[in-house]
Amino acid sequence: MSTPMVSRPLQSHLAQVFAQYPIEVAHGEGVWLYARDGRKILDFYGGHAVAGLGYGHPRWLAALERQARQMSFQTNALPMAIRERAAARLAKFAGLGLDTVFWVNSGAEANENALRLAFKITGRGKAVALEQGWHGRTAAAGAVTWGALEKWYGFPRTPFDVSFLPRDKPAAVERMVDRETAAVIVEPIQGLGGAYDVGKPMLQALRRRCDEVGAVLIFDEVQCGMGRTGAPFGANYHGVVPDIVTAAKALGNGFPVSALLLSSRMARELKYDDMGTTFGGGPIACAAAEAVIETIESESLLANVRQVSTYIRATCVIGPITGVQGAGFLLGLKTSRPAKEVQAALLERNILTGTSADLHPRQQRKTRQSKLARR
Ligand SMILES: Cc1ncc(COP(=O)(O)O)c(C=O)c1O
Repeated sequence: MSTPMVSRPLQSHLAQVFAQYPIEVAHGEGVWLYARDGRKILDFYGGHAVAGLGYGHPRWLAALERQARQMSFQTNALPMAIRERAAARLAKFAGLGLDTVFWVNSGAEANENALRLAFKITGRGKAVALEQGWHGRTAAAGAVTWGALEKWYGFPRTPFDVSFLPRDKPAAVERMVDRETAAVIVEPIQGLGGAYDVGKPMLQALRRRCDEVGAVLIFDEVQCGMGRTGAPFGANYHGVVPDIVTAAKALGNGFPVSALLLSSRMARELKYDDMGTTFGGGPIACAAAEAVIETIESESLLANVRQVSTYIRATCVIGPITGVQGAGFLLGLKTSRPAKEVQAALLERNILTGTSADLHPRQQRKTRQSKLARR
């Protein structure tokens, strides 16, 4: 069976740091990718969970074009109605009472800023994250990403101490989150950790403990937010409200945009210069986010996620598929064979999927410990 990932030709001018699927995309429409060699491919992958509305959605296209013609770019230094409107729309869509928005550009940048705020506000020195969590490749976001230090982190040291909490042990929360803890960062439904739903008991335990010790609870909803679970955010899905939500990926449907949604407690602590950005809050990015939310609402896409997710859960457990986990459209199929083999077989049938690892926490801890011991 062929492997779905290939390396680029050596003459490529692109940095050789990632493998690629053997599909040269010519164009996309809705859920379909059209390859240069004539194949029509059903895309379950959406470019790392970004194209939530699919490709070329008319409302999204129109919004980008309108905004680009009207005013393509201005920084936060100049007020613009579209920036305010998109922020209000995002806060209302979330419905979590996190009504202050700061626009940035990528998931990692949103998490970096969320962590910075938590350290500034609490004046403390340590963070807690979950095993198998993924938060991005910048210095702070990488520091709270499980396994980054062993695999790719690169910086000589992390900017603060981090403890990793087993994701399935609410009982460990009290011991690991203490009065030194500035921030706890968690994906309510982990993406790269195997489409794993961390679950309400764990999130509630974290909320309770953060309240007790005065730590800031951050939900990284870069992947599981923006309707992916069938609710606006994982926070709504589980009924647990953090102090900060970070959103990215499907927020712009492919136009780079991310955001922090802050509670009034966080917002009250903000001072000028606490955060800053050149591109964040750019008008086209805000128009994209506004169009995404308008589309989710006007086309009842949350209900569609719930319906189709139920259908997938009921029909996909066949052949090498032994189970389904996750929530909404952040679903992982558990496979009896290595997932990469199943992915390659699907691609041969013109179905594009992504894979992620869901090693049992004990297994993963062992791998991590043996890697550290070898260093
Ligand atoms: C949950 C989560 N957080 C953060 C990130 C980082 O986002 P970005 O690649 O936009 O920096 C990712 C990327 O995959 C992610 O899945």
